[in-house]
Amino acid sequence: MAIPSEFIDELVARSDIVDVVSDYVSLSPKGGSYWGLCPFHGEKTASFHVLPDRQLYHCFGCGKGGGVVSFVMELENLPYPDALRMLAKRAGMEFPEGNLDDSGRRRRARLLALNKEAARYFHSQLHAPAGREGLEYLRGRGLSKGIMTRFGLGFAPESWDSLTKAMTAKGFTKGELLEAGLAVSGKKGGVYDRFRNRVMFPIIDLRGEVIGFGGRVLGDGTPKYLNSPDTPVFNKSRNLFALNLAKTTKLGRIVLTEGYMDTISLYQAGFDCAVASLGTSLTADHAKLLSRFTKEVVICYDADNAGVQAANRAIPMLEKTGLKVRVLRVSGAKDPDEFLRKYGPDAFARLLDQSENHVEYSLGQLQNKYDLKDLDQKVAFAKEASELLAKLNSPVEQEIYAGQIAELTGIGKDALLRETRQSRNQRMRTARKKESRKAMTPVMQVQPKARDMRYENPRAARAEEGILRLLMLDSSLWKEVQGLEPGQFTSPHLGRIYEVLRRRLLEGQPLQVGMLEGELSREEVELLTRLMAEPESLENGKKAMADYRAILEGAQWKDLREDSDLLAVRDRLLQKKTI
Ligand code: GTP
Ligand code: MN
Repeated sequence: MAIPSEFIDELVARSDIVDVVSDYVSLSPKGGSYWGLCPFHGEKTASFHVLPDRQLYHCFGCGKGGGVVSFVMELENLPYPDALRMLAKRAGMEFPEGNLDDSGRRRRARLLALNKEAARYFHSQLHAPAGREGLEYLRGRGLSKGIMTRFGLGFAPESWDSLTKAMTAKGFTKGELLEAGLAVSGKKGGVYDRFRNRVMFPIIDLRGEVIGFGGRVLGDGTPKYLNSPDTPVFNKSRNLFALNLAKTTKLGRIVLTEGYMDTISLYQAGFDCAVASLGTSLTADHAKLLSRFTKEVVICYDADNAGVQAANRAIPMLEKTGLKVRVLRVSGAKDPDEFLRKYGPDAFARLLDQSENHVEYSLGQLQNKYDLKDLDQKVAFAKEASELLAKLNSPVEQEIYAGQIAELTGIGKDALLRETRQSRNQRMRTARKKESRKAMTPVMQVQPKARDMRYENPRAARAEEGILRLLMLDSSLWKEVQGLEPGQFTSPHLGRIYEVLRRRLLEGQPLQVGMLEGELSREEVELLTRLMAEPESLENGKKAMADYRAILEGAQWKDLREDSDLLAVRDRLLQKKTI
């Protein structure tokens, strides 16, 4: 893979990190840097900051950090070359595709092209004689022609090879059909269509590409739904049906359903904010994805027991990302689709407005678990309910719900609130203990990914960090470390980073985190960003560099002079001027 480094350097130079991050995070300036809520973990106060002079981002909360390229990689979930492509598009630069030996990418592009053709074919069949039954089925389920077009719905005819024929006629190979999950191989070596006699729901990603399909049998056959298998372009646990439409809703929240039909019916009824998971339960990736597009998710699963259980599993997952979670329960119908058909959009809008926040919902769940007529069970319920309240940050909310529980159980509200406080204190103590354990361990140990980077010789490593920091901030200081070899570094990771910096400096290339991200591992990028985010004085850069070097060279002979204490060196410099 050879993307010319001149191209990468220019692209990074033209992609200001504050601009790029601002596409996703609302940043406010404070003292020379910009602060915002971290997009990588849920938080209520900003610990994510962007330093324009060093062109890096860093989160004190979760430890994520890097330059402009890794920001896009992490947030858009893209491999390195695709992140560069995206930035190039943004900067109006042409990406040098010709230089890239990217068989993987070309293969993916072929599969996407095939999926798109297949979706066109299925859609055309819906309006052809072979698809009459499919069209009737969808009409029978109350869908308008406009909605069928909007979602690109289609029909896979009752035939072993109609899609395979149509696609091979367009130049796609049987191998590609198999890889896209549109065909399966038969016992005698032939291939045949995976989807037969089914209405087809194309699954479209955020960039508008058809990545897979769901197909529903007409009538009562099995399996009721057949989905594309995971392929190089389709991952069920990372994609949600209709998020491409819901991401621009003006309704201020996203409604999470279980089924394709629920989502489509909601859309047709005016709720353009519905999405569905793809026949799998909700994953942490789904939750993270949703949190990028909305602040509030309303879980609207089926009314049956399975739906309730799935909601219970989804709540903590969504909450963890900082999303506000509500739960809507349809009554008098098995799912949102049936509810809309029976009671209409206005009734659903009322349900949506009344949807419980998850505390009410969880309390309701808890109540079902216990028999409140039994004294012991009542006490157990009150205890567990108090633990639930202890998780709430607002005392007002605690008051209100404690009142409700008091009414249910006949246990005094004050007693419940006392129990809640105790439980809260207990939680805080545990959390504090965890915090202080963290504080006592070296920083690198706290961040799980970087755990393997614990320094063997912390004092020398600090000096090595200092050298890297100074080089990144002022590459003219390079002269001061001439002759210093990567092998002299005590930390292998820092030595690796130094090696990359040295090579660029020798070749006269500029230094910016974003320009190095193709050559360093994720851990190394995070390490470099973390050390760069620390303050450093450049006023006495030369002297500092010499001191760091002396410490490093001293460490090699295990001759650590106590008097040239590294921290003293830095403190002295920092007193003069901090940048
Ligand atoms: P309709 O009966 O067409 O209204 O569908 P529904 O959306 O009410 O289906 P259901 O509640 O049974 O299932 C919800 C979702 O689970 C569907 O949209 C599918 O994504 C998935 N699903 C349902 N049945 C199957 C199945 O047999 N196989 C697979 N893989 N997924 C299924
Ligand atoms: Mn359903």
